[in-house]
Amino acid sequence: MTNPLCPDPRQPFFDSIADAWDGWHDLPALNAQLADFFEHVGVQPDESVVDVGCGTGNLTLALLAWLGPQGRVTALDISPAMLARAARKTTDARVTWHEAPADRIPLPNGTCDRILCFSAWPHFDRLDHVVAEFSRVLCPGGQAHILHLISKEEVNRIHSEAHPTVRADRLPPVDDVADLFRANSFTVIETEDNASRYLLSVRKEPRA
Ligand SMILES: C[S@@+](CC[C@H](N)C(=O)[O-])C[C@H]1O[C@@H](n2cnc3c(N)ncnc32)[C@H](O)[C@@H]1O
Repeated sequence: MTNPLCPDPRQPFFDSIADAWDGWHDLPALNAQLADFFEHVGVQPDESVVDVGCGTGNLTLALLAWLGPQGRVTALDISPAMLARAARKTTDARVTWHEAPADRIPLPNGTCDRILCFSAWPHFDRLDHVVAEFSRVLCPGGQAHILHLISKEEVNRIHSEAHPTVRADRLPPVDDVADLFRANSFTVIETEDNASRYLLSVRKEPRA
């Protein structure tokens, strides 16, 4: 059933696949790829990080393993079933789980160091609102990353064969997403789109 506060038609779909999700992934291999990514973008031990579209929490768990005792993760998703599975995996007090959409991050202005959006960007509507929300919650100099561990072509091929609810969801060319962030006063740090990674890294400028 759709949450009246979050009437995204994808919510029941993602609820319906929550129990199967982890079985579709090689989690040890994923953890190794995510650790490489954290090193690549320079995640520091004491950061406050937001995981947008956290699903069953695999990125968040990898972050908890990477961060130190002062690190924090705010993990959010529109799917209660995904969140329930995620929350069952850890009792770590450094993470808080929230049922919330990407354009309503439950944090005060300027209070997080980094936002990670892993395998979730194609499912967001109102991308201009999402980018504005990222700008609101990031501290000056904070970074955001749109990450997939496959190419745009592969993401979009998978979606084109998926359930009708998400069949039209598309990952845009990385340069188009970069332009959207630039238009909202972010600086683009890096773009990449190849067989092993689609990545956009941006920085919120201090005076944005
Ligand atoms: C393909 S799954 C990826 C989950 C997780 N990031 C991972 O890679 O394991 C996409 C997730 O995004 C969530 N999602 C979809 N639309 C969302 C929105 N507008 N705001 C927040 N989460 C959303 C879904 O519920 C789902 O859990």
